[in-house]
Amino acid sequence: MRVLVTGASSGIGAALARKFATRSDQLVLVARTETALTSLLNQLPGSGHELLVADLMNAADLERVCERLRASDAARAVDVLVHSAGIGLPPGGYLGNDVEASQAMNVLSIDALTKLAHAALPGMLERDRGGLLTVASIAGFLPGTPAITYSASKAWAQTFGEGINYLTRQTGVTSTVVAPGFVRSGFHERAGLGASGIHEVMWCTAEQVAAAAVRGFDRGRALVVPGGVWKTVYAVYRLTPRSWSRAWFAKYMAWTARRTA
Ligand SMILES: NC(=O)c1ccc[n+]([C@@H]2O[C@H](COP(=O)([O-])OP(=O)(O)OC[C@H]3O[C@@H](n4cnc5c(N)ncnc54)[C@H](OP(=O)(O)O)[C@@H]3O)[C@@H](O)[C@H]2O)c1
Repeated sequence: MRVLVTGASSGIGAALARKFATRSDQLVLVARTETALTSLLNQLPGSGHELLVADLMNAADLERVCERLRASDAARAVDVLVHSAGIGLPPGGYLGNDVEASQAMNVLSIDALTKLAHAALPGMLERDRGGLLTVASIAGFLPGTPAITYSASKAWAQTFGEGINYLTRQTGVTSTVVAPGFVRSGFHERAGLGASGIHEVMWCTAEQVAAAAVRGFDRGRALVVPGGVWKTVYAVYRLTPRSWSRAWFAKYMAWTARRTA
């Protein structure tokens, strides 16, 4: 299979690229940082991998990636679209930052995914194989923190990916949403978010997330929550009133912020 991974220069996207490459899949690696993509490309097993340096917040770059996804000849057609590119909100969340911070995040998490999937899915359906793997977040279920727009954008991605899973259920195409908790990557530092107050047990590695995500994708699962702790959090969320889960997650996040400060 040929797999296009956005956000492949770091963290979960890089781990997903490595995971797919170990299965002899060919990768198209997408992100802005060419040096990081080249370094990953040089480490990947197999051959025929490609780099596509693109800023998905830039309309012309996004269109170039869409063009790549529309390629239909057997030697270039992309079977799987993995959308892992994402950014967090700086401390202060939605109201504590300029609205442009939330809007930029939405461009990457919502608008880019809408456009990329629309470019990729028709060819996948015609070939009757492949699908979408969308990196959302457990935050999409737990909106009660100041990063309201981050949670909302991940809820959007989750509903979108699950919807595609249902729409394509009678085809060879599938769609999986992965909703991790805290993952060791460049994510928190890039957003200026301190993370030292988060207890060790709450962290997953990017490799753990990638392994669970690819396993779920292979099985056609609509939603994957990686890691025992976060599976438990998700189970509790489903069993308790929403008002309750909203409140306890907000309290937990406020407590970790105090421990970090
Ligand atoms: N880390 C966590 O705790 C956590 C938890 C749940 C969900 N997530 C989600 O997981 C996804 C991946 O995050 P991560 O943890 O792997 O963080 P990361 O290490 O910071 O990786 C983010 C990736 O997104 C790319 N990216 C950012 N802006 C971009 C742009 N404008 N155009 C193209 N690519 C762009 C970055 O590449 P360049 O900078 O090279 O462009 C990088 O490859 C995100 O959607 C995040 O919301 C993370």
